[in-house]
Amino acid sequence: MSTNKQKIEDLLERRKQTKLGGGEKRIEAQHKKGKLTARERIDLLVDEGSFEEFDMFVSHRATDFGLENESYYTDGVVTGHGLIDGRQVYVFSQDFTIFGGSLSEMYAAKICKIMDMAMKNGAPVIGINDSGGARIQEGVLSLAGYADIFQRNIMASGVIPQISAIFGPCAGGAVYSPALTDFNIMTKNTSYMFVTGPKVVKSVTGEEVSVENLGGASVHSTKSGVAHFVAPNEHEGIALIRKLLSYLPQNNIEDAPILPTNDPIDRLEDILNEIIPDNPNKAYDVKDVIHAIVDDGDMLEVQPNYASNIVTAFARFNGQSVGIIANQPKFLAGVLDCNSSRKAARFVRFCDAFNIPILTLVDVPGFLPGTAQEYGGIIIHGAKLLFAYGEATVPKVTIILRKAYGGAYDVMASKHLRGDLNYAWPMAEIAVMGAKGAIEVLNGTEISKIKDDKARAEFIAAKEEEYREKFANPFIAAKFGYIDDVIEPRNTRFRIIRAFQSLATKKVSNPPKKHSNIPL
Ligand code: HXC
Repeated sequence: MSTNKQKIEDLLERRKQTKLGGGEKRIEAQHKKGKLTARERIDLLVDEGSFEEFDMFVSHRATDFGLENESYYTDGVVTGHGLIDGRQVYVFSQDFTIFGGSLSEMYAAKICKIMDMAMKNGAPVIGINDSGGARIQEGVLSLAGYADIFQRNIMASGVIPQISAIFGPCAGGAVYSPALTDFNIMTKNTSYMFVTGPKVVKSVTGEEVSVENLGGASVHSTKSGVAHFVAPNEHEGIALIRKLLSYLPQNNIEDAPILPTNDPIDRLEDILNEIIPDNPNKAYDVKDVIHAIVDDGDMLEVQPNYASNIVTAFARFNGQSVGIIANQPKFLAGVLDCNSSRKAARFVRFCDAFNIPILTLVDVPGFLPGTAQEYGGIIIHGAKLLFAYGEATVPKVTIILRKAYGGAYDVMASKHLRGDLNYAWPMAEIAVMGAKGAIEVLNGTEISKIKDDKARAEFIAAKEEEYREKFANPFIAAKFGYIDDVIEPRNTRFRIIRAFQSLATKKVSNPPKKHSNIPL
């Protein structure tokens, strides 16, 4: 019989074994691909010494395909909890060195266990994905395991923040867990996500495509919008997760942490008085406005390279986390189209679910016209953004910087969609449409009767000027109380901070219902 000393030594030996994953050779192969191991990733992610692992002695119970003779501690996923900046998080990290990180029955049960713990304790879940998908030898048990995770992702949605890092393969149905979470972070060149791989694509459609062009970080950060962030390597990807969490609360009944700042709340930015070009058709970079008004000029942009005609970002005002949505005149004149509407709608809903106040900076010429947009469902996608703003109950502060035309005026957090404080810069133009389009509609017949080119141009110019004088200003909206105040641009930071301070005790709730039916 073993002595107690031997029993302790046995425990320590077993613990040592767990650290080896699928063995030295496979760890070496992982490093050669420029990837870290599951444990190295966790070490980087959480505060030093804070990780508590669960279920390290779990192994599979499969008895087919030779698996009865091959098993490893952890069964291919490291799970547990730790601290990030002193705040509790739950983590799972898939271990590619064990059966290619493929998901088995027991592996899924481990992930479900920490997700249940995270829900009970109201703490975020971070999943690090690096896996060959369903463990083929386990058949339907593996598929069932995925679905068990999906169900938990769904129940946790809007209750605790869920963040997915994709640091390797993520293929087939495995993509749907990250898709159900709030944010996906991919690494350049070492990660990919697709529902079917290049071989299946070729056999079904005949199309030849590389892994990178089908589902690499470049595709998902620009074309599909699946990836919210791309990092050049895992170290930076993990730093990004830590930064992202700093803007988020632990759960939907808490507020995001306040980060004290030395940035004066009444900092005047003279540059903002000059940022809007005199020519209303000229662009400027709305990110320059954001940098000028937020604490320390610092923001974290979400989906920076997808639908760049709208900017979505986290930043702070006097230490308080705020979600910013801003039309970007630099891209497509800041127009609303299918993709920018979906991007902004999801961001608004995330902020609202997690008690993060919303600042909207408006400079929008309207919705993008054309068959491509209509066939693509701009009616439904635009409605998503409208719905998201109208449904949101967090404090909402809106500033019209320049254009707010047509339906887009209504959509962009207007007073009519329960905007709490709506300000405008003096350059704001609030109208049903731009001067050119309006004059064509209103004076088309008269214009067509003027045969002389010069006289026609002068007539149009005069009418446009008259229209601009009348409508292209914020004072008509202010007269009706739709704009609470017209503010001096350089004082914008102070006005925003005061606005959010005044809304700190806001309490609004929507009528009781099972759930809404947002136009999906
Ligand atoms: C069991 C797997 C596995 C899997 C990889 N391995 N994927 N074992 N089930 N799904 C094992 C390999 O046998 C190998 O074992 C080790 O992991 C490393 O794999 P390699 O192929 O050597 O690595 P690499 O060359 O880097 O290729 C990685 C890969 C490839 C591209 C991910 O392994 C691959 O194509 N795997 C299958 C992917 C797949 O089709 N999965 C099912 C998707 S459908 P040894 O012992 O040699 O080290 C799915 C359905 C989910 O997931 C449904 C949810 C609703």
